[in-house]
Amino acid sequence: MARKVGICTGGGDAPGLNAVIRAFVKTICRSGEWEVVGIEDAFNGLFETPRRLQHLDLRSCQGLLHRGGTVLGTTNRGNPFGGDGAPDRSQFLVDAARDEGLEGIVSIGGDGSLGIALRLMRDRGYPMIGVPKTIDNDLSATDWTFGFQSAVEVARDALDRLHTTAESHDRVMFLEVMGRDTGHIALHAGIAGGADVILLPELPWAADRVASKILARRAVGRTFTLVVVAEGAVPTDLAHLSLGDRKRALTAAGGAAHLAMARLGAVVDAEMRCTVLGHLQRGGSPIAFDRILATRLGVGAAELVQAGRWGEMVRIRDDHVDGVPLSEAVSKLRTVDVDGELVKVARATGIEFGA
Ligand code: F6P
Repeated sequence: MARKVGICTGGGDAPGLNAVIRAFVKTICRSGEWEVVGIEDAFNGLFETPRRLQHLDLRSCQGLLHRGGTVLGTTNRGNPFGGDGAPDRSQFLVDAARDEGLEGIVSIGGDGSLGIALRLMRDRGYPMIGVPKTIDNDLSATDWTFGFQSAVEVARDALDRLHTTAESHDRVMFLEVMGRDTGHIALHAGIAGGADVILLPELPWAADRVASKILARRAVGRTFTLVVVAEGAVPTDLAHLSLGDRKRALTAAGGAAHLAMARLGAVVDAEMRCTVLGHLQRGGSPIAFDRILATRLGVGAAELVQAGRWGEMVRIRDDHVDGVPLSEAVSKLRTVDVDGELVKVARATGIEFGA
C-alpha cells in the first residue's frame, strides 16, 4: 500500500501556488511509493465533516502550471492553535491527519502558516515540511519567494501606464503597491518602472524632500512625477509607532498613498492622482521566473519528504535549492537593506526616497 502525504496552501494567494502543487505531485507520484492528499482551504478541510480533501495524481496536475490562485483554496484566518478567544484545535487537526493515514503534511505558506507548521512539529510532534510563499519576498531564510516577480511585473506595467498619463496631464501620480512591513515590491517595481520617488516602510519619508524632488523636476521641464508608495510607508512623524499602530494610522488616512498625496498636496501646487493596485498584484498567471522557481521548490519539497526530512522548509539560496529547519525559516523578516546595492543604484539614478 502506498504511503500518504498531505499538502495544503495557507495565507494570501500568490502566483505560482499551483505550479508548486503540480511539481510536488508529479515528483512524488512518479516515485510510485506515495499518494498525495490535498487539504482544502489551508487546514480547514481536515476540521470539517465530511472532510474536504482532494486525491491528487498526475492527471489532476494537468493545466496547473500557468494557473493563478490555488486549486486547494486558502485562508489567512483561523490559527489551529487558537488565540483571540478561539479554542486550540491543533490536537484535533493532528488526530484527523493521522486518521486519514497522512504521514505528514507539506504546508505552502508565508510566515504565519510556516509558524503554525513549526508548532505542529514542535508542540504536537506531527511531521511537517514548509514551502515559502509570499509576494512580499520578505522571508529571511530564502533568497526568493515565488509570486514576488509576478507582482513586481504587474506593478511595473501599472507604472508604465501611469507614466504616459502623468506626462500627458502634467500630474503627480501616486501608485500604492503591496508591502505592509517591507518595501521589496515598491523598490523593484519603482526601479523597473522609472519612478521618480519611492516611499518604503523601512525609510520614513519627509514631505519637504519629496516636494523638492517634484519642484526640481519641474525646473528642468519635467512637469510630471511618478511616486511609488509601499502599503506600509509612513511619514517621519508616524515612524515612532509600532507596526500595528502604523497600520491603524494609515487605514484611518485612507492608505499610505492617499496620505502621501494629501501631505504633498498641502505643500506643492500640482494636479495629483492616486491609484491603489491592491490584489491585482496577487492574481493571474505567474511569470516564467515564478513558474520555474515554484517548480524547483515543489520538486525540492518532494525530495525532503522522500528523504524523511520533516521539520524543514525548502528554500533557494545562491541559486541552489536545499532545506533549512522550520525554526530558522520563521525567525526573521527580511526588510529592504536601506544601505544595500539596490537602494544605492536607485539613488545614483536620481530616485528620491524622502529620506
Ligand atoms: O503578505 C502578502 C500581502 O499581499 C501583503 O503585502 C498585504 O498587506 C496582504 O497580503 C493583504 O492581505 P489580504 O488579502 O488579507 O488583504
